[in-house]
Amino acid sequence: MPKNKENYFPGLEGVNVDTTRLSFVDGQQGKLYYCGYSIEDLAENCIFGEVAYLLLHGELPSKKEFDEFQSALLAERYLDPHLKSIITLTPRDGHPMAVLQALVAQLAMHDKEIADRSLEAKRRKAIRIIAKLPLVVTYFENLRQGMRTVEPRLDMGHAANYLYQLTGKEPTEEAVNVFDTALILHMDHGCNNSTFTCRVVTSTEADIYSAVVAGIGSLSGPLHGGANERVIHMLESIEELDEVEPFIDAKIQAKEKIMGFGHRVYKVMDPRAKILRKLAAEFVVDDAEMDKCLKKANLFYNLTEERFRAKGKTDIWPNVDFFSGVLYKALGLPRDFFTPVFAISRVVGWLAHHFEQMEDNRIYRPRFMYEGAELGRKFENSDDRE
Ligand code: CMC
Repeated sequence: MPKNKENYFPGLEGVNVDTTRLSFVDGQQGKLYYCGYSIEDLAENCIFGEVAYLLLHGELPSKKEFDEFQSALLAERYLDPHLKSIITLTPRDGHPMAVLQALVAQLAMHDKEIADRSLEAKRRKAIRIIAKLPLVVTYFENLRQGMRTVEPRLDMGHAANYLYQLTGKEPTEEAVNVFDTALILHMDHGCNNSTFTCRVVTSTEADIYSAVVAGIGSLSGPLHGGANERVIHMLESIEELDEVEPFIDAKIQAKEKIMGFGHRVYKVMDPRAKILRKLAAEFVVDDAEMDKCLKKANLFYNLTEERFRAKGKTDIWPNVDFFSGVLYKALGLPRDFFTPVFAISRVVGWLAHHFEQMEDNRIYRPRFMYEGAELGRKFENSDDRE
């Protein structure tokens, strides 16, 4: 740590880098708002397309606007044959987040409007990206499972089609509703790392696809969206309920981070975690394996919270990634698909922020405090170097 800490903000904690109209995270009250609407209100009353429209346009759509938006998304619900052949060549053991990153870069190369920098073209590209991201990963999953590739259905909503393409089976209405709500909950979240990354890339006037590729890379990290996959890995590694407590104690003793807990902004429970916990409890019925998984998750949550409280750390609570994994497992999603699901939802926020950044852009260019070798030291021939 530099000796002079003035103007030094590790992790940019507490720094406002810009203004936004898109979302607000109230970390003290445990509230999240999109364009002024509480996340509870939107989760209860809206579907994916409506909330995506809200973030991209600032207002919920009228019936006509919604129909037009849905039609535009449906018109882009296909993959170019060349893109399909690229996915066919992708190593089957590649992580779906890496596949997503690589294929979004490919989408850019296939977009005939790539050089068109007008707002109208950018809006069409945004729709294209939102519509095609799920297709890329579901197509990859079909191939990986050695099954026939499932073509998208145009008579289904965004969430339903995703589940359908993933499994080849028509999802139940309940599964669609639960999944749709999960997508809404993940769409935007203030200046989170991947959104900030997108805005940083956007600020160079790089194209919209570059911003999204960068966002996917950021989201894949275990301290960000990659945590959801690790939560379920952790819960699955604990076989019995009576092993939960020693597992937590060992983690705390070893000063290891517990995945799915803690947040830079929330000092109380993440409101998304509350909703996801409730959804998981309602969704998991008549499934002994999932019932046990949910019991482990709830016990884990109670005991961890108790342990942190006993250590005086009253601000570490479950975040969105703790219960989302349980829900996705119950929906039958493969574990390495949890973070891609986050991405196919958060991409809406990234795109909305891309537009907002471009409105009044200034390139992000902070500074590092230099603490390296003596400045001006002299070059020596390699023979003279020790
Ligand atoms: N397990 C154990 N201790 C924790 C945890 C945790 N999950 N989170 C925070 N702490 C402790 C940390 O050890 C530190 O203690 P001390 O002051 O004694 O050194 C203190 O709390 C502050 O933690 P920090 O890591 O400095 O906080 P941060 O704001 O830099 O990091 C975080 C936030 C989310 C990266 C962190 O809480 C974490 O690593 N959590 C686990 C990974 C995770 O669940 N990530 C998902 C984040 S939310 C959704 C998303 O963005 O995808």
